[in-house]
Amino acid sequence: MKKLIFAVLVLALAACRSREPELYTIHNASGMEASITNYGGRIVSLLVPDREGRMRDVVLGFDDLKDYYPERNETDFGASIGRYANRIKDGLISIDGKQYQLPRNNYGHCLHGGTRGWQYQFYKAVEVSANRLKLERVSPDGDQGFPGNVTASVTFTLTDDNRLDIRYEAVTDAPTVINMTNHSYFNLSGDPGSHDILNDELYINASRFTPVDDTFMTTGEIWPVEGTPMDFRVPKAIGKDIDADYEQLRNGHGYDHNWVLDTAGDDSVVAASLYSPVSGIELKVYTDEPGIQVYCGNFLDGTVTGKGGVVYGHRTAVCLETQKFPDTPNKPEWPSALLRPGETYTSHCVFEFGTR
Ligand code: BGC
Repeated sequence: MKKLIFAVLVLALAACRSREPELYTIHNASGMEASITNYGGRIVSLLVPDREGRMRDVVLGFDDLKDYYPERNETDFGASIGRYANRIKDGLISIDGKQYQLPRNNYGHCLHGGTRGWQYQFYKAVEVSANRLKLERVSPDGDQGFPGNVTASVTFTLTDDNRLDIRYEAVTDAPTVINMTNHSYFNLSGDPGSHDILNDELYINASRFTPVDDTFMTTGEIWPVEGTPMDFRVPKAIGKDIDADYEQLRNGHGYDHNWVLDTAGDDSVVAASLYSPVSGIELKVYTDEPGIQVYCGNFLDGTVTGKGGVVYGHRTAVCLETQKFPDTPNKPEWPSALLRPGETYTSHCVFEFGTR
């Protein structure tokens, strides 16, 4: 019997792995184009016009979709992250008095849903049209240690005013935690081989942030940005203070923090923006989430070769991850990520592109 179960498991695993990743391309009337794969729900390329009207690919990624497989590259490039974006302390959550151990894949904590989070799983394309792609994933009870059978979807819509609108939804049959995000690595110069992001201007609509310890774990405190290198309420070049003598920057190896947005869940107000003086491309981010993780590619070190054979060097991308605060399951006073049967998790993020 045991042998039979084992054989069935091996076959099932092989069947999963023999699935081929597909690429879907959506576009709008203005010529903007997004290519997304069902593997990890990853944005593979995002073509937007620069100030001269030339189309630029503004995200890091790979030409061969199988390069996204963890055995080739352990990166979160472009991914639709689940179940829980960012970190959970010691990989432990407790729901209704029951404790669950999740993978401890990052400094002893669970990062981005675990070793084989949804970024390394297949989604299924359930709706495809010229400007819209809806991906869905059924995550079984116990997936990466999380409880509940969860059905989650990510819907990407390209509007004619150059907005990539992303809507997340999830339902569960048992209490669980959900916190989805998109993990695109933006390089708005369109030329990550020659331009890092240190001269890019960043704006974050946040007067507070959540400090971390030297394992990148939130301490539970919320600090004002006022008078610190974390203050981006007036746009400034990322490189201006990134290596300042400030404990939070040492702990984060640069900027790799969650900011507490002043937008109060209003997704009509800009939460953050990024501008490349090289291309003139500006990205504005809108969200109904309370937080945004801004990660400046501090772990990129030239060991990953991406599209067109370009080597991705240190700090050649910025990730703008709209989210609940990291480790909310263990910080009850923070906005909750708990999802119960009968409820629907929703989250909204817009990446809007323009030039100046
Ligand atoms: C994290 C970084 C991590 C990166 C890549 C970010 O969200 O905060 O520490 O290296 O994702 O997974």
